[in-house]
This record gives sequence, C-alpha cells and structure tokens, in this order.
Amino acid sequence: MKSKLPTIENIKNLKGKRVVLRLDFNVPIKNGKIVETMRIDRAMPTIKYLAKKKAKVIIISHIGKDETSSLKLVVRYLNKTMNVGFVPDFRAKETRAVVDGLKEGGVVLFENLRIDPREEANDPEFAKYLASFGDIYVDDAFAATHRPHASIVGIADYLPSYAGFLIADEIKHLSLALKPKHPFLFVLGGAKFETKMPLLKKFLEIADQIFIGGVLANDFFRDEELPVGKSSVDTYNANLLSLLKTGKIILPTDALVQKGDTKKTTGKLVGEVCPDDRIVDVGMGTIKSLEPIVKKAKLILWNGPLGFYEGGFDKATAELLKMIAGSKAVSIIGGGDTAVAVDKLGIEKKLTFVSTGGGATLDFLVDGRLAGVDAIINCKKKLKA
Ligand code: 3PG
Repeated sequence: MKSKLPTIENIKNLKGKRVVLRLDFNVPIKNGKIVETMRIDRAMPTIKYLAKKKAKVIIISHIGKDETSSLKLVVRYLNKTMNVGFVPDFRAKETRAVVDGLKEGGVVLFENLRIDPREEANDPEFAKYLASFGDIYVDDAFAATHRPHASIVGIADYLPSYAGFLIADEIKHLSLALKPKHPFLFVLGGAKFETKMPLLKKFLEIADQIFIGGVLANDFFRDEELPVGKSSVDTYNANLLSLLKTGKIILPTDALVQKGDTKKTTGKLVGEVCPDDRIVDVGMGTIKSLEPIVKKAKLILWNGPLGFYEGGFDKATAELLKMIAGSKAVSIIGGGDTAVAVDKLGIEKKLTFVSTGGGATLDFLVDGRLAGVDAIINCKKKLKA
C-alpha cells in the first residue's frame, strides 16, 4: 500500500462528533447462539476509543447474505460489556431522533444493512442517507472491505473518512507477507482452486516453499494420477503439474482416510488410497516432516484448513498450528476456519497475527488493495479544523 491510510488517531477532536462506524458483525449463528465472536471482540478497541473520546457512535454492519438475518444477538453480546442501543429499522423516521438523542460517548447499532437492497447495489442515495447520520465516517469492517457496497465505498463520497484500529492492524500485518523475510513458508489449505489459484500463483513468486493441504492437495494427487478414491476434488482444470515444476510445492505424503460410508478412519500413504476411501485430513507423518521447514522459516503465512473441517477433521491443522506457535517465525494466519482453529486451541497470543477476514484477506494478499481502503485514501472530504 503506497498512500498513507488516515486512521482515527488522525482525528484531532472527536468530542460531540457523530461517527458512522462500519463494522463487520457478520458472525456465525447456530441454534440462536453466536458461535464465534472474534470479529466483534476485535472491533471493541475502536468502539471503546471513540466512546472514550466522547464521540456519538452509530454502528452499521451487515450480517448474513441477505435481509433474513438480524443483529439482535450481536447487540445483546455487546451489552454484556457496554451500553449499546438498537435501531431495528434504520429507514424509519424515528431513527433521526434516536441518533440526535445520543449522549457524548453513546453507542447505537443499526439493524442488518442488507435489509435494504441499495446497500449491496452501492446506491448513492442510500450511501448519502447513511452518511446523513454522521459528521465523520470510520471503517473498521476489515472482513467486508473488499465489498464495493454503499456503507463501505459509497459513503466515503459524503463524509471525511478514516480507518479504525482493526483495519490498520490487518493491513500492517498482511503486508508483511507481500515483502517477506526469507525463508518464507506459505501453507495453503481448503478447497476451490478457482478462488485460491490467484493466491497460489502470486505466492509461487514470493514464497520459498508452499505446503498444500485440503481438497487442493487431492486435486494435485488426481493430476499426478495418484489414487484419490472417493475424496472430494475440484472440477477446476488448471494444469497443476506445471506448477509442481517450480519445485516450491510440498504435498502431503500420508493422509487420514475414511473407509466407504463408515466413520472408521485409518492413516495411509498417499499412493495407497483405495477406491472406496475418502481422504479427510493430512497425515501425521507429513506434519512431522514439516518441522525442519517451520523451524527455519522467518515468515509463515497460512490460509485454509488442512482437513475436512466441517466434518470435525481438524487434527493436522491443530498440530501444525501448535508447531508454528512454538516456532520463532513471524506467523500470519488467514481468517475463516483457520482462525476458528486458533481460537479453539487458545494459542492466538503465540502467533503474530490472526486475520478476521475471509475473502477480504485473500483479495488483499492477491491485489495488495481493497475497495474500502481505497475509498478512505481517496476521500476528498476533510474535517474542518
Ligand atoms: C465475510 O464474511 O467474508 C464478510 O462479512 C463479507 O460477507 P459477504 O461475503 O456476504 O459479502
């Protein structure tokens, strides 16, 4: 990132100012419970800073893919540590009175922005409407900053715009992987070559070694004509064998396989997978063999779990994470399931940085920029002294 990113610390006087704060409270909810609160917790320093400086804080966020999800549970969670009001329909005319009635240091949360289709359409009138509640716009919704939506991009046309602490922290740490210290190990797991290929190609140029797990590894096995049995594979056709010629790619040599439709699992060498086996995780022999590389690495970047995570196959991911946590390398962990694994192990403090983003993290690593960050940098509105 070349231009300097204006952050909330650049705002001289926040007292009494109305701040429209875009956060990403798109957290997973199951059986009426928030199952992972990382995104909310990591937004707290910015909320608290603004409130402490006596700003009036109007939080906006999306949750879920459409208008059917609600932020009600999020506001309940926030209220465990601070007083946060809730506006169930921010388009209702009473909203103005709620915002006008905010005390200095007061905080209110609007319901899911996606109840209005103009949000995702980046409708200028909608962006202007959201902006009308504030004197300043602050974006700290890192995980949504790749989305060119009204609350992320459009709104910066109408208000002086700044980044919060989380965005600044994410950019600082993810940028380490773009100008890395060497040896640099990149760990790539998960599925969907279609979305991961730009990342793989980019890091084949920057990293010294790339360990591949997850369904992505199965795709390599298939192209190498190794047996994959009933394992998941992508249909994406991508001349993977030519990538192996770089000599940088490390593939698993053993795997945990599930037999047929049974729940029974056994460890096998990769070449020994039978027609009714399903590869569900990387084998422990492979994880052990990575130890000298992890020990020597100065930088490790990781995106995507190594096993079939939704099915509970998280052992290889957990073991490699623990190995990395015990190493001297600067370690940057991409968001999504890998971040959930870190949380489950309680080792976040032993790693350098865990990103809150999914798609945003991938986009930043591939392009070195994000639509919402560009909007802040290019914002022409300035605060009056
Ligand atoms: C995410 O979870 O990656 C962000 O909140 C963006 O959500 P979206 O993919 O629904 O736009």
